[in-house]
Amino acid sequence: MTQTLPDDPAGIARAAALLRAGALVAFGTETVYGLGADATNARAVAEVFAAKGRPHFNPLICHYPDADAAFAQVAANAPARRLAAALWPGPLSLVLPRRADCPVALLTGAGLPTLAVRVPAHATALALLRAVGRPVAAPSANRSGQVSPTTARHVLDGLAGRIAAVLDSGPCQVGVESTVLDLSGEQPLLLRPGGATVEAIEALIGPVRHGIPHAVAEAARAPRSPGLQVSHYAPDAPVRLNANAARHDEALLAFGPPPQGAGATFQLSTSCDLTEAAANLFIGLRQLDAEAAQLGLTAIAVMPIPEQGLGLAINDRLQRAAAPREKVRAPP
Ligand code: TXA
Ligand code: MG
Repeated sequence: MTQTLPDDPAGIARAAALLRAGALVAFGTETVYGLGADATNARAVAEVFAAKGRPHFNPLICHYPDADAAFAQVAANAPARRLAAALWPGPLSLVLPRRADCPVALLTGAGLPTLAVRVPAHATALALLRAVGRPVAAPSANRSGQVSPTTARHVLDGLAGRIAAVLDSGPCQVGVESTVLDLSGEQPLLLRPGGATVEAIEALIGPVRHGIPHAVAEAARAPRSPGLQVSHYAPDAPVRLNANAARHDEALLAFGPPPQGAGATFQLSTSCDLTEAAANLFIGLRQLDAEAAQLGLTAIAVMPIPEQGLGLAINDRLQRAAAPREKVRAPP
């Protein structure tokens, strides 16, 4: 059963307690309703992907009550500070490099070295974020492939029974998602048009280009890099899928009881729990990649993962990691 919580102090306190406990709570913002999870809890974030039925991991936007809270976790540059001062709270998400001590789970950003952050212009959402005291990851609160919801009723139409609660703060004012702007590179890049206009942004920081995320362009210059619209961290070591045995010169990404003999092993889930495996995926890839480099191992062997539920998103990610690397297309 999904609870509908009222927009009052008790409802907000309940929503915050649920989020802090790792449950999923949808809440209204000025743009659309978000499907919220504690962004520092990889397992809760994995549940977001499961509830949405997304066949792949998209990086999610982290929501904060103010710019100081956001910029404590990502590294803001001058344009970011100028935009935040003028347009936050508001429908603008800024992609910036994670700080070294950033507590946000790697899964939240789909393994990228950057994070999209925003401060929503909605009193209830801000009260909720203050009460949670942690960044809240929130994609639009719809099932994958459906339109973004602008009322609590729309949220329940798609997600009733899949999430703990929806905090009903009435209809959303803006109705389209936030503008996503990548400020992590040399030039500002518009990744998604939205509630904050390009004109307003350019008036503050000068010309903005349309293009692919800087982290993706960066990956394209690396020796092995996936050619994806929104690429993710790609291990340097080649990836071998559906491995039921591992050689001594391979690192093993295990799912369930592992075969013997690998040069290094990372366990995604001893009990073959797909949510736990999703939560551990990016940590595991990074750790094995580092160990492979240290120990001179030649590949990362990955045990079979069932093609169901979150297994689809995990396999999508692993197939991209294993695929021959292409060049990233030049931005239009
Ligand atoms: O208005 C909104 O932004 C709503 C409300 C709930 O805040 N949220 C939302 O989230 O639309 P979502 O997950 O549906 O869209 C996130 C967008 C995606 O296009 C994703 O690719 C991009 O932001 N994004 C997030 N993090 C990114 C990153 N590190 N680099 C590049 N793109 C990123
Ligand atoms: Mg969406």
